[in-house]
Amino acid sequence: MGMFPVTRTTQPKQKPADDALAFGKVLTDHMFLMNYEEGRGWHSPRIEPYGPLSLDPATSVLHYGQAIFDGLKAFRGEDGRIRLFRADRHAQRFNRSAQIMCMPELPVDIIRQSFDALVGLEHDWVPRKPGTALYIRPTIIATDVMLGVHPAHSYLYFLILSPVGTYYKEGVKPVRILASDSHVRAVKGGTGEAKTAANYAASLAGQRDAEAAGYTQVLYLDGVHRQYLDEVGTMNIMLRIGDEVITPPLAGTILDGVTRNSALTLMRDWGLRVTERPITIEEVMQAGRDGTLREMWGTGTAAVVSPVGTLGYRGEDVTINGGQTGELTQRLYDTITGIQYGRSNDPHGWTSLVPAEQG
Ligand SMILES: Cc1ncc(COP(=O)(O)O)c(C=O)c1O
Repeated sequence: MGMFPVTRTTQPKQKPADDALAFGKVLTDHMFLMNYEEGRGWHSPRIEPYGPLSLDPATSVLHYGQAIFDGLKAFRGEDGRIRLFRADRHAQRFNRSAQIMCMPELPVDIIRQSFDALVGLEHDWVPRKPGTALYIRPTIIATDVMLGVHPAHSYLYFLILSPVGTYYKEGVKPVRILASDSHVRAVKGGTGEAKTAANYAASLAGQRDAEAAGYTQVLYLDGVHRQYLDEVGTMNIMLRIGDEVITPPLAGTILDGVTRNSALTLMRDWGLRVTERPITIEEVMQAGRDGTLREMWGTGTAAVVSPVGTLGYRGEDVTINGGQTGELTQRLYDTITGIQYGRSNDPHGWTSLVPAEQG
């Protein structure tokens, strides 16, 4: 990919063993950078040794959070080849986040080329153990130096990579989820649909309180009625009640998850009845009590699927599928990971091969 100037590191890091990988703790040797100025547009794409950014303390992103990011993964298949999963869709969502946050969009093919160039250069960092991956984190921050609140005129795009371990070391494992009636993550008309820093800051207190109450994650309800399911932690939420699969619609408060879209597409391929509609926590709890709530799971890039074994709300817990991973949840996990690692065929063309740079 000799497309961008590359300054190679003179101090390559020691790579951790695949068994020792956690999430996001180790970053690779290089990063991709590109600048934007109003009037000039995006310019100076380049790859440099990974290292600290130098920012003036008055840089606007540090005060008002005008920042977006995305997250996807590169997988090393048993055939040794490296595949990205749905890179175009992630690039499009990155631009959707940019629109919402009043930031300049980037041409999708430039985003794609930055992924291919950096992952290609760092191909040795893609771990080999089944279940591991190289996490890809594109980010844009506002870089104006000024303390006024308005959209910036200059921005920095940067792309960093982190090898990540298997989410499930002992097989897919159900978690305990708390539906919160005290914390709200996003409201209609706000920024809930964007992958922007503030949404994650807004989720910290709810997460802290859920953990203190003995749960793993928060299930957020809508901010107006405090009744309708939004999303769970950093995942979209899906349920199987009777013979219907239900997930909240994309109505401005939740992220348009790439895993959500992939799961919906597969389940429709399989002929299941899949409905995107508002659903209240009361309907879910009632289905939990009367046993029609057969499965419930989150979807996201980190875990692919995360089954909910217990759902708590206002002091009551319901157990779902005896606290075991449901059959459909497991089938989604197996099918999506099969495509990601190149074990199964890819009828929708979701994966793309990364050319490994010869170095
Ligand atoms: C708030 C939020 N919802 C949902 C998701 C799941 O999205 P995806 O499947 O694209 O990873 C994520 C993670 O990216 C997230 O941060």
